[in-house]
Amino acid sequence: MRTATAYAHPNIALVKYWGKSNDELNIPATPSLAITLGDLRTTTRVEESTSDTVVLDDVQVQDAKINAWLAHLRKQFNLPPLRVESSSDFPANSGLASSASGFAALTLAISSAFDLGLSLQEQCDWARLGSGSAGRSLHGGFVALEPQGTSCRVSQVLGESDWDLSIAIAITSDRAKSTGSTAGMTASRDTSPFYEGWLRATSEAFDSGLRAVKNMDFEALAQISEASCRQMHALMLSTEPALIYWNAATLNCIEEVTRMRDDGLDVFYTIDAGSHLKAVCRASVAKQVRDRLRGVEGVYSVLASNIGGPAQLLG
Ligand code: DP6
Repeated sequence: MRTATAYAHPNIALVKYWGKSNDELNIPATPSLAITLGDLRTTTRVEESTSDTVVLDDVQVQDAKINAWLAHLRKQFNLPPLRVESSSDFPANSGLASSASGFAALTLAISSAFDLGLSLQEQCDWARLGSGSAGRSLHGGFVALEPQGTSCRVSQVLGESDWDLSIAIAITSDRAKSTGSTAGMTASRDTSPFYEGWLRATSEAFDSGLRAVKNMDFEALAQISEASCRQMHALMLSTEPALIYWNAATLNCIEEVTRMRDDGLDVFYTIDAGSHLKAVCRASVAKQVRDRLRGVEGVYSVLASNIGGPAQLLG
């Protein structure tokens, strides 16, 4: 019986992706730049079965995204019915990119179990078809994803050990996010008067973000990342009906990160389609950053992560 298990880490974008140029092929409208969260992981096992079954975090589910993705894959490859079991060691569906690590691990596991012979770039293409940000989770370190026609080039900009940064994740809610990324992006494109401006600003931010990462220029990266985050949430707020992912604790955390910077700590924030805040800092101040976020009103807990490596096969 054919089977394989793989894991992948979630990633967080510093220059954000929010909007597609091609819905069917899931091509992002702009390039994006992300870091890999090495201390969080999704582990996925696939095995030949009698019917397609998906088990996420020990619960059997009907997952429309995974079903559609398997249907696409079967147009190109002859695959038997599959049992997919996937679990994450961090809260799912809350803006912590479990679909990114999930599709990356799933692609790697299927590719290995059924000898699909996919190159890393082809794996990134398949993972991206499942979730735009998933193409980035196959690589480690600092990763760029750049749309090119009907594909996307995914490349590592810096390795996981090149720049000693650390991430603190302030958990500010125990609820799943209200609107998923795919539906939210469509709504923003269709209704926000700011959408075109967002696309222009993001392409520029990608170029300067890439330079800042290559030069390991913390101050520049902090400014570019926070601006990209705020611009994405401004686009979300200007969508009809409004996409409001932040809560009071998210705002409290933004204030605390700003205060920390005023106090001389090298730290900046970013927030995805959920209320949790991720603070990126130099590893030397990571403990202080975590301790101060733990003291913020409304914060349930704080997770810690270093920059992580690529997705891996476990056998
Ligand atoms: C806010 O990759 O989850 O995290 O391609 O529709 O599956 P789909 O979207 P997804 O969106 C990620 C959105 C984001 C920003 C980012 O990671 O770049």
